[in-house]
Amino acid sequence: MSYATQSPSAYNIQHWRFIALVKHEDKERLKALAYKQQKVVDASVTFIVLGDLQGYEKLPEILAPMVESGQMSQEAVDKWATSSSKNYINNDRFARDEAIRSASMAAMTLMIAAQAKGFVSGPMIGFDAEAVKREFNIPDRYVPAMLLTVGYPAPGNSPRKPRLTADQVLAFGAGREF
Ligand SMILES: Cc1cc2nc3c(=O)[nH]c(=O)nc-3n(C[C@H](O)[C@H](O)[C@H](O)COP(=O)(O)O)c2cc1C
Repeated sequence: MSYATQSPSAYNIQHWRFIALVKHEDKERLKALAYKQQKVVDASVTFIVLGDLQGYEKLPEILAPMVESGQMSQEAVDKWATSSSKNYINNDRFARDEAIRSASMAAMTLMIAAQAKGFVSGPMIGFDAEAVKREFNIPDRYVPAMLLTVGYPAPGNSPRKPRLTADQVLAFGAGREF
């Protein structure tokens, strides 16, 4: 988690939030809302990864240590917070894009950190987001971005699937039909 929280985010809002489910019964409740995918309960921990649609509200608090250390003036922080909030207020689509973008950045960092520590992980979008919000009392300001299972590798896990090559996904200088 401490690696995940080092991820970058727009305006440093850090829209990511995580609910960790470690108790068997909690993971069973989630599995029922995730098309009965068994890995939800088999994993040591299954995270509900959330994005905060109103994360910009916390910016003054987030940046306060920089004011205290003299790295930013209070005026600069206020400007930063105002400029950021203008992007989000009355722009639900941008707020949602950003919440999911930041949550995904942090989830990927968590996956890489888990892998480096000898665990395996599985991101999942196969779940009923509204039902998960209801079941786990998640306030409306948070959008579930994905589920993320983390645990020990198990015998019989599927092999990695093929990836497109760098050449197939990279263009220089302008778009093309990939
Ligand atoms: C956003 C996202 C959602 C996914 N949702 C599911 C899912 O609900 N269930 C599942 O079994 N795998 C899910 N996956 C895993 C992908 O199927 C998997 O990463 C892809 O097929 C490549 O497989 P590999 O990483 O094992 O090579 C998801 C992956 C991502 C990035």
